[in-house]
Amino acid sequence: MYYSDDLIEEIRSRNDIVDVISGYVKLQRKGSSWFGLCPFHNEKSPSFSVSRAKQMYYCFGCGKGGNVFTFLMEYENFTFVEAVRYLAERAGVALPSQEETPEQKRAADLRTKLLEINKTAAKYFYYLLNSSHGASAMEYLSNTRRLSKETIVRFGLGYSDKFSNDLYQYLKKQGWSDELLKESGLVTFDERRGPSDKFWNRVMFPIMDANSRVVGFGGRVMGEGNPKYLNSPETKIFDKSRNLYGLNFARASRRPNFILCEGYLDVISMHQAGFTNAVASLGTAFTSPHASLIKRYTDEVLLAYDSDDAGVRAALRAIPILKEAGLKSKVIHMQPYKDPDEFIQNLGTEAFEERIRQAENSFMFEISVLEKNYDFNDPQGKTDFFSAAAQKLLEFPQELERNNYIEALARKYGIAFKDLQKLVNSYGARVAYSPDERYTAVRTSKTDRPPKDDAVLTSQKLLLTWLVKDTALFEKISPYIGPDDFSEPVYHQTARLLFDEYKTRGTVTPARIISLFEDKDDQAKAAQLFNTTIHEEDPSAHEKAVNDTVIRILKHSLDRRSKQVRDLQELQDIIRQKAALQHLHISL
Ligand code: CTP
Ligand code: MN
Repeated sequence: MYYSDDLIEEIRSRNDIVDVISGYVKLQRKGSSWFGLCPFHNEKSPSFSVSRAKQMYYCFGCGKGGNVFTFLMEYENFTFVEAVRYLAERAGVALPSQEETPEQKRAADLRTKLLEINKTAAKYFYYLLNSSHGASAMEYLSNTRRLSKETIVRFGLGYSDKFSNDLYQYLKKQGWSDELLKESGLVTFDERRGPSDKFWNRVMFPIMDANSRVVGFGGRVMGEGNPKYLNSPETKIFDKSRNLYGLNFARASRRPNFILCEGYLDVISMHQAGFTNAVASLGTAFTSPHASLIKRYTDEVLLAYDSDDAGVRAALRAIPILKEAGLKSKVIHMQPYKDPDEFIQNLGTEAFEERIRQAENSFMFEISVLEKNYDFNDPQGKTDFFSAAAQKLLEFPQELERNNYIEALARKYGIAFKDLQKLVNSYGARVAYSPDERYTAVRTSKTDRPPKDDAVLTSQKLLLTWLVKDTALFEKISPYIGPDDFSEPVYHQTARLLFDEYKTRGTVTPARIISLFEDKDDQAKAAQLFNTTIHEEDPSAHEKAVNDTVIRILKHSLDRRSKQVRDLQELQDIIRQKAALQHLHISL
């Protein structure tokens, strides 16, 4: 954290949440709250609420919620610090200046200059495309590739001329040094021939980062030619494993997932057809930094790789990377076409939408690729296939999930559920004892959360919600229960903040507490506590509910402590406290 809590709180309180959100969502007043269509999920009637009193928003449809910082992190994909800076500026709050080392300053200056050069080059290519020089390029994009004027403008497509160094000349005239132009990757310097442009006579695709800044280019020959595509080298502003083509648009798409494909024109065609959630890793392998980047925006990826062998192999490599990053994935089949561009150009939007609906679960896809290696007419081949499939099923650490997949495979390949399950367990048992660490997954099955824990978490959540609604409860329960009895990390921290604030100020400020979390998922979790609607029960039922809840939390807390006891006395103490729980009664 760079800024003090007090400063953050000042910035928060000077940016009224209704004013800020009104800039993004049309809000209408209903009673004490404001309502609008939720910007985070698709809906027809408004369930997105903003409260001026609480300085919080909450969507009853999708559960997203938080304070004014959370909103900007969620909507603009700002980091917490970016949201703080943005709102500080909006409210005219001065922030202490960050100390930068001379080295950092030089690097930042260089990046700014390279971005400026790229922007100038993109404008230059765009200008050429629309001039008489670019006539054949325009004809290629419009007629051969069937891109609309609007699409060409949106993606800033361009044309690099036939001359060997016209871009170099142009950039020189603007005063950029040879050294910088070399760093930009747009010009190469040869001792004998002097400077020459990297791209000649190609249609140009500016590659933009998430904030629509041009960080590099791809250039395609018109028609046949080698190489078909030429790309900017990696530079101080272009890291191929951290960039996805189309991300600047996909991040604002309202579709529920991302579509991941291979090429420039796949992305562009999909966007033109309305699939504005398409991105590409552009010829470079898909890596885990790509996956983490995607994870900032969505939880699910549909793979739309080429239908050839290379595409299948690329999908097989991407699936575990996505899984590792916590992303769900499915595979869209493009047959009989090669890639999404060809598919859409031939069969159109509706047919593609249908393929999205039919997208295959990525585990089932992996198995169907695996299947091709075995001869099912040979009993040995069949046995070997089931053994391989059984071992692969061990990827699922949770029994319920694993059983669902066993069931799906059993159905698809005509084998009894019990038989396949037995086979899986035989491998499970074997690896559990083997020193081979590859299959630690089976041993972690103890992390399968028993349903009992869910009840405890619900209790922790419920009690916090009650505390915020009725601060008088603090006095009543604090002799018995404290923040450390909350085991879930976000609830634990929220409890600590609530108890502290109540003790020092006699009130609680949910919106303030939310900004003490930096992660927007944590903020949303905390916000949920403060927005859960509780059915009003009759007072005696409420008293019983509070008591049951406090007892459940305490029991769980004591159980946890008893696992970590250091000496006998502590253990006896815990046993005494547990016994006392039977007589605990809080009167409201
Ligand atoms: N690619 C590349 N260099 C090449 C070939 C391909 O960088 N020599 C990258 C490009 O980003 C390209 C992607 O890999 O978009 C996929 O390549 P490919 O399937 O060959 O091309 P398409 O995208 O189908 O291109 P087109 O439709 O224009 O033929
Ligand atoms: Mn193609």
